[in-house]
Amino acid sequence: MDTDLLVVGSGFFGLTIAERAADAGLKVTVIDRRSHIGGNAYSEPEPKTGIEVHRYGAHLFHTSNERVWEYVNRFTSFTNYVHRVYSTHNKQTFALPVNLHTINQFFNAAYTPDEARALVKEQAGEFNVENAKNFYEKGIALVGRPLFEAFFAHYTAKQWQTSPEKLSGDIVSRLPVRYNYDNRYFNDKYEGLPVDGYTAWIERMADHPNITVQLNTDFFDSSQPFNKNDMVGQVPIVYTGPIDRYFDYSEGSLSWRTLDFEEEVLDVGDYQGTPVMNYPDADVEFTRIHEFKHFHPERKDSYPDDKTVIMREFSRFASHDDEPYYPVNTPEDRTGLLAYRELAKKEENVFFGGRLGTYQYLDMHMAIGSALSMWDNQISKIAETLKVSQ
Ligand code: FDA
Repeated sequence: MDTDLLVVGSGFFGLTIAERAADAGLKVTVIDRRSHIGGNAYSEPEPKTGIEVHRYGAHLFHTSNERVWEYVNRFTSFTNYVHRVYSTHNKQTFALPVNLHTINQFFNAAYTPDEARALVKEQAGEFNVENAKNFYEKGIALVGRPLFEAFFAHYTAKQWQTSPEKLSGDIVSRLPVRYNYDNRYFNDKYEGLPVDGYTAWIERMADHPNITVQLNTDFFDSSQPFNKNDMVGQVPIVYTGPIDRYFDYSEGSLSWRTLDFEEEVLDVGDYQGTPVMNYPDADVEFTRIHEFKHFHPERKDSYPDDKTVIMREFSRFASHDDEPYYPVNTPEDRTGLLAYRELAKKEENVFFGGRLGTYQYLDMHMAIGSALSMWDNQISKIAETLKVSQ
């Protein structure tokens, strides 16, 4: 077999390992069960309009990690896009994260930062964070009933398809409220979108003579090449699929939330004037609408000015057949994860990484950063040993 390392999953975690290993001289095979590389960061032009659509939900790149920033800039340059989100509540549009502008608009006032802080503190006094019984009480204890009910309660209930009284208070430790007019969504040092799109970036990472990519190839399908039965014990494996699936759910299924997307091409130049509009009210079924052309204002000459692409986002619990997006992380999930971690430790020469392999929500920069660490601490050592024995 002409492979020194098998990487299961071509998302950012798997491709970072593959790229580093290929650069160090290893022959790497990357498999993915999907028909494209890039995992959830994959994007493609919508065919009628050419507008770049993020297939698995909006992906905004941001990081304060110097090493990650230097690394990603080897494969792409970034636009100066800065993410901002708005929220339409009760037929009125507000800026998010909740900030002094939101508060003053909401209460029809002109509070100073100290006045707004005092008001929220007074409204939050209804419950105590320490002995709040559920998400509803905790949310009120954090930001007061009016802001909580308007911007957080139903939005979160829609995300979890569970009423705020039935959700655990553990799902939040704080709710974002700013007492100034800063409505930048992220606080990181670096932020932007890949100039020629996510897929061009991802393809450059995989474009190395030592990397072979096999798509439509499921690690658990023993009729396909590079499957688990044939490969474990033969070569080192970096596995970025779901950890519970690897062990055939022997310690139970870990629970995930998934998203459904409803995409529409509209015959209007501009539908909502901004990339992301949240809908926090209970009577609107979806949580938000993305309008993709606004992620790239610098492409205005190549995008049509009489058409746009929007995507409504709906959230629900995932079954085994759904794409797992966000770990639910119940107490049972945490117990199951600990058991799977013990099993993973015993699996010689198999390294579990990424969002699914560690059952952790990771932003792109975190997935890349943790892959670089795994390369430094584990896989590069194997590469050295292999080189010596060759
Ligand atoms: P990822 O899920 O990308 O890749 C895993 C790959 O493994 C997939 O391609 C899958 O097909 C493959 N695989 C699984 N099982 C397999 C099997 N049995 N055989 C073969 N292949 C298998 N981050 C950020 O920085 N900014 C953002 O705005 C967003 N937005 C966002 C929205 C949504 C809806 C989600 C779900 C996620 C984000 N992210 C994000 C997070 C980002 O997508 C995440 O950091 C990366 O996907 C993590 O990369 P991984 O390689 O770990 O997983």
